[in-house]
Amino acid sequence: MPNSKRLFLRSKKVIPSGINSPVRYYDPYPFFVKKAQGSSLWDVDGNRYFDFCNGYGALLLGHRKKEIISSVLSQMRKGTLYCAPTELEVELSELISKNFPSMQKVRLVNTGSEATMTAIRLARGFTKKKKIIKFEGCYHGAHDYVLVKAGSGAAHIGISVSDGSLEEVSKNTLVAQYNNSENLASILEKEKDVAAVIVEPVLANMGLVPPEKNFLSDIKKITSENDSLLIFDEVVTGFRVSTGGAQKSYSVVPDITTLGKALGNGFVIAAVGGKSKIMDMLSPEGNVYQASTYAGNPISVSAALASVKTMNKNKANLYPKLEKACKAMVSAIGDLASDMNIPHQINSVSSMFQIFFTAKRVVDYSTAKASDVAKFKKLFKSLLNNGVFVAPSQFETIFLSYAHTDEDIKKTIIAYEKALKTVKE
Ligand SMILES: Cc1ncc(COP(=O)(O)O)c(C=O)c1O
Repeated sequence: MPNSKRLFLRSKKVIPSGINSPVRYYDPYPFFVKKAQGSSLWDVDGNRYFDFCNGYGALLLGHRKKEIISSVLSQMRKGTLYCAPTELEVELSELISKNFPSMQKVRLVNTGSEATMTAIRLARGFTKKKKIIKFEGCYHGAHDYVLVKAGSGAAHIGISVSDGSLEEVSKNTLVAQYNNSENLASILEKEKDVAAVIVEPVLANMGLVPPEKNFLSDIKKITSENDSLLIFDEVVTGFRVSTGGAQKSYSVVPDITTLGKALGNGFVIAAVGGKSKIMDMLSPEGNVYQASTYAGNPISVSAALASVKTMNKNKANLYPKLEKACKAMVSAIGDLASDMNIPHQINSVSSMFQIFFTAKRVVDYSTAKASDVAKFKKLFKSLLNNGVFVAPSQFETIFLSYAHTDEDIKKTIIAYEKALKTVKE
């Protein structure tokens, strides 16, 4: 019996469903990881995989980037948790603020979920309004404010996607269509009690869906005309599409920003920031509560400092190299699928892409959902059997890292060719 199967059977006895986050499960059982380095993961059965899941986008620089590991090792010798402030936190917040000028003040937290929860509470505290609007298909973490899908029919009142969530909470989250600013405007025309609109500026949780021209600038205009705040959830896009995130690439300035993933390049850290007058609402000076034992812990902060410094130092080469590699993959995979007469769409932005098996352009939730997920499953299985690990869902994104070599990309394209043949069968 493969070691992964043995571990999965053992795991199921003590861990619900055998995994610690739902998307990690796939049929019949996931591979269990032994180690990672650079562009690759190795499982407990000795198989190597080129990693295009990359911590769901976190590992922009690849696994075990030297600069980050040595910064963390050096900090470990000085202590791991102080629960008292450090100069490192000040330095990191200054750096974040420099990279993201809209984040005049920054609170460091641990996860993306914590960051969006704090951003929304801040928006409510600042505006004294109750409701929020999210876009269908965007993911902002696993808490009740945002774990909401569109209600039935034309209703925009959110309903929870999870048992155990309170209807009283989810009904205050309204749902609009991504890439449809008119839909947002019409909701805001009726609903006057909206504290904030939260959006993934590039949608990376429904496959990959780029913002259409003017979508982001339009929603910025609409929110400010309606005295609602605009929250850019840049947990995925921050540092991935540029060192200043999507707000820099698309030249749209939000009121509040959340960061995570690539900020720590594999270490647990996230951030929420925005205009000083909003951020100053946070306790203890303000009355919006946010707290965490591990927030700003020196291990995560030293990792993030090394990570941001490395991305800033290498940006002239890093982003063009990633974009070039991504374009090469997208064009080769697209050509292969076209040659095999497989109806498909590929969306890509910067170092992210996803293939959808559908003949129609994918621009929002319903067009993404129209794609043939059975075909994606075949693709995923075959890629895995050929040493390429992508997130095991159509509605996730392929992430490249700086550690992928030209040779890795070449071999991955060959694996896609084999996988597309199984899709065709
Ligand atoms: C855009 C976005 N926001 C927030 C989150 C939640 O982050 P975390 O899983 O660190 O809580 C995610 C996670 O995938 C995300 O993609």
